[in-house]
Formats: sequence, C-alpha cells, structure tokens
Amino acid sequence: MPELPSDAVLDTLLREARGTQNAWQDRAVDDALLHRLYDLFRWGPTSANCSPARVLFLKSRDAKERLGPALSANNLDKTMAAPVTAIVAYDTRFYDFLPKLFPRNPAAKSWFTSSPAFAAETAFRNGTLQGAYLIIAARALGLDCGAMSGFKNAVVDQEFFPDGRLKSNFLCNLGYAVPGGLPPRDPRLSFDEACQIL
Ligand SMILES: Cc1cc2nc3c(=O)[nH]c(=O)nc-3n(C[C@H](O)[C@H](O)[C@H](O)COP(=O)(O)O)c2cc1C
Repeated sequence: MPELPSDAVLDTLLREARGTQNAWQDRAVDDALLHRLYDLFRWGPTSANCSPARVLFLKSRDAKERLGPALSANNLDKTMAAPVTAIVAYDTRFYDFLPKLFPRNPAAKSWFTSSPAFAAETAFRNGTLQGAYLIIAARALGLDCGAMSGFKNAVVDQEFFPDGRLKSNFLCNLGYAVPGGLPPRDPRLSFDEACQIL
C-alpha cells in the first residue's frame, strides 16, 4: 500500500495554497522547472486520453507586453510582474492526436470528427481539467499560482493563436509569491451544502 500524503503535503497542494497571488518575489522560474511541470501534469486523466490542453509559457518582456492589452485592470500589474504567465489553452483539433494517444481504439478519432459539438465540449472539459492538474502540479513543485479568467479571450486568441486552432481557456501566473499580504481565506461550502451521498 502506498503511504498517504502527509498533512503538510495536503496543505501545500490545497488546504493552505492560495488561488490568488498578487505579489511576486524577484526569483526566476527556469525553463527546466516548466518542463518538470509539464512532465507531471500531463499524467492527469482525460477522456480517451485526449489531452487537449496546450500551454504557452510567457516569460519574456516582449511576450508579456503582447498579453497586456487583453488583461482586465486588476490583473495587469501582477501579471506583468510574475516570472511566468501560462496561457492555458486547448487544441480544437485534439482528435488528430488520438491515433497516438489512444491506440487501443482506432475509431476514437471518428467520435469527434463526426460531431463538432461533442469535440468542442470534450476539448473544453478536458482542457479545463488539465488546467487544474497544472495548478496542483505547480504547487507540488513549490510554485505559487495566480489563476485568472479576467481577460479577453478573443484578444489573446487573435494575438497568440491567429490561425484559430488553439483557444485560450484561462491564464495562470506562476512563480514564488511574497509571503503574506493576501486577504483572509474565504470559506468553502460544507459537505452538506455541496455534496450528497445517495
Ligand atoms: C479559473 C480561475 C479564474 C480566476 N480569475 C481570477 C482573476 O481574474 N483575478 C484574480 O485576481 N483572481 C482570480 N482567480 C482567483 C480566485 O478568485 C481565487 O482562487 C478564489 O477566490 C479562492 O481564493 P483562495 O484560493 O485564495 O482561497 C481565479 C481563479 C480561478 C481558478
């Protein structure tokens, strides 16, 4: 039996980790760590192993400035200051990779080519799940995350994905946060408010 993660690990992954980070230390995130991040979060499950998430890691000043016009005012300064901003996107033609990703069922690609609506729903659902895996994996690797949906997707897509194949989902600042300075943690719903056991 594998050992369960310690309380300290559970705190790091979820219970103590904050979803909003506004202040970043002047500490770089090197490319090798971004590779480790991808190598970890790619193992999270997706339907038929379709793996539609695509990530653009913006590190350079130039790339950040291209993102700036899409950001809502409250997200601008912290995003410019973050060592990395990930554009968590998804591939609308993810099914082209299914012969590689799901070789046990050669018919899988046709489930999606025959139904654009099913393909779109699958890309968004699984791309979003993979975004959540990215956040948890980043925390496991010692990074802090600031996820953001306060931006104009169409502006990001026009700037970074002009051929229309990839679509942005959400943004996630990554780096090492300055400790403290955040408002107190907001509550979460209780089990009885959010769950039922039937
Ligand atoms: C998909 C997503 C989008 C978010 N968008 C923004 C945003 O645009 N700006 C922001 O400051 N925080 C944003 N947040 C952070 C949430 O507001 C934050 O995670 C939530 O209030 C819980 O905070 P806590 O994890 O610190 O308790 C976003 C979080 C997620 C997961």
